[in-house]
Amino acid sequence: MALLEVRELGVAFSGHRRGARETVAVDGVSFDVEPGQVVGLVGESGCGKSVTALAVMGLLPRRGVRVSGRAVFDGTDLLALPEPEMRDRRGCDLSMVFQDPLSALNPVVPIGIQVTEVLRRHRSMSAGAAREEAVALLNRVGIPDPARRLREYPHQLSGGMRQRALIAIALACRPRLLIADEPTTALDVTIQAQILALLAELVADTETALIMITHDLGVVAGLCDQVNVLYGGRVVERSERRELFATPRHPYTHGLLGSIPRLDAAPGGRLDAIKGSVADNLPWAHACAFAPRCERVLDSCREVTPPVERGGEDRLLRCHNPVPAS
Ligand SMILES: Nc1ncnc2c1ncn2[C@@H]1O[C@H](COP(=O)(O)OP(=O)(O)O)[C@@H](O)[C@H]1O
Ligand SMILES: [Mg+2]
Repeated sequence: MALLEVRELGVAFSGHRRGARETVAVDGVSFDVEPGQVVGLVGESGCGKSVTALAVMGLLPRRGVRVSGRAVFDGTDLLALPEPEMRDRRGCDLSMVFQDPLSALNPVVPIGIQVTEVLRRHRSMSAGAAREEAVALLNRVGIPDPARRLREYPHQLSGGMRQRALIAIALACRPRLLIADEPTTALDVTIQAQILALLAELVADTETALIMITHDLGVVAGLCDQVNVLYGGRVVERSERRELFATPRHPYTHGLLGSIPRLDAAPGGRLDAIKGSVADNLPWAHACAFAPRCERVLDSCREVTPPVERGGEDRLLRCHNPVPAS
């Protein structure tokens, strides 16, 4: 059985002004996460990745937001849980690492207290045991001289060290599911690679499942077992990672892959950007949202919503005119 089953998740923001139109941020998103599996959610900025994660974590504001569908974690629908019960699960069964470690850490509380707080609350440790475990955790995520670092404030750490500290906090309660939302976007390239390697190692060692959220297919390449490509709040393609890179079928996935630099490309070759922006979307209700930007667009794409089709056991595709398989 899947650890997390997201089914037909929908999130709409209502405007605060009266009569303002709703913004549909996520629209019928379904995916599974098996224990220990690494699942990618990939797509350009604004396609609904963070909103999906926040909905699953119960972190969306209650007012002005309409959430539908189910997110069944180990048999319990998280979307139906009252807030106090959800709070117990957050930072315990499920935890999250955000893009910007500086704003996710409390600036006026030393790192050590932020780690031991989780240990004392969720693992009921004594002060002494929590301190010992905090040192071990910082050590585990590659923070040198952890005993000294525990006394420091977030601003005293570099960006990479802050992200490591945040990962330590997220792992403190031994979650069964970790959601990482663009965890390396704010970091230098070399530090990015280190953090990704660390995440890969931690999930492999601890059997924690990971949802990896990124706009960068390059990040997904080394880490994910399965990849969901999102466009305009919907999954447009899902595939096992190797298959996705070998034979991307959706023109959007194809375009994303074409815009990654490759070491084996001819020197001086150009990267193919996908033309247009997410703002050019058509409504999913009676079209393919990607049609205005698509190089394979047909008349039907502007008139009929493409249905989700299965192309093999773990493969989904939502497209009227996919890229041929070979
Ligand atoms: N609090 C909010 N109120 C209104 N619209 C929002 C809010 N948060 C996100 N959105 C909208 O939801 C869509 C998806 O956003 P998001 O999930 O943050 O995208 P991503 O993480 O993929 O970049 C965007 O169009 C965004 O403008
Ligand atoms: Mg985001």
